[in-house]
Formats: sequence, structure tokens, C-alpha cells
Amino acid sequence: LASTEVDIAPIAEGQSITVKWRGRPVFVRHRTAKEIEEGKAVPLSDLVDRAARNPNIDGGDTADATDQNRAAAGKEQWLIMIGTCTHLGCVPLGQAGDYDGWFCPCHGSHYDTAGRIRKGPAPENLHIPPYAFTNDTTIRIG
Ligand code: FES
Repeated sequence: LASTEVDIAPIAEGQSITVKWRGRPVFVRHRTAKEIEEGKAVPLSDLVDRAARNPNIDGGDTADATDQNRAAAGKEQWLIMIGTCTHLGCVPLGQAGDYDGWFCPCHGSHYDTAGRIRKGPAPENLHIPPYAFTNDTTIRIG
């Protein structure tokens, strides 16, 4: 399927689901206020990869990797990312690692609460797929 519809209504704050899109895992995370705060508190100068990797925003892929540019527009609690580590493609574990985000156990890459690479061999932030909200509780990925 070229696109996948996801009902996000059942995903409580602090929970995530993984869906398949074009054979790849996509993480849909309902972030907590604390996770959003942590994401916003990180200066760009601390980031390994300063590109947003988000095709859905102005400036796209290469806009600054601020928390705002990583999260869904106007819905900062939602973070939607392709669930493959940018090192060699393993699937990172959620709510793990040194930055409260994702941890890839294959070679030890740590991603923060906005899915940005902070430590380890992965060169880029977790990528964000093209997606849009079709209503308040439905996302179409792709
Ligand atoms: Fe994730 Fe190597 S594939 S750290």
C-alpha cells in the first residue's frame, strides 16, 4: 500500500504504537509533557545531526532539528518517525537509552525524546515519513 491510515485515538499519553508503512516500521508516539519539555530544552549546538529530516515542514529535510520541527505541526505531543536506525537499519527500542527516547541495541545509538541522534554511531536523526492528519484522530502516512 502506498499509504497507511492510523487511528491514533486509542494511543494514550506516554504510549506508542508501531505500524507498517511500505514494509517499514513507523513509530507513532503520544509524548508526555515532560518528553516535550526535554526535547525543547536541547540547544541545536548539542545535536549530532541538525537537520529536521521532516519532509512535512517548510524547509523540509534540512530545516533545523528543533523539537517543533520534529513533532507534528500544531500537535507537538505527536511524534511520527520511521523506526529504522540511521546507522544500519535495526529497529530501536522505545523509552530507552540515555536520553529517554529510543535506543538501538545493535551498536548502541541513543536517540532523544524528539528522535534525534545524541550518542552512538548513527549519523542522522530518525527520519520522519510524509504524513498528514485527515481529522483530529487519524493520520495518513504516505
Ligand atoms: Fe542502530 Fe547500528 S543499526 S546502532
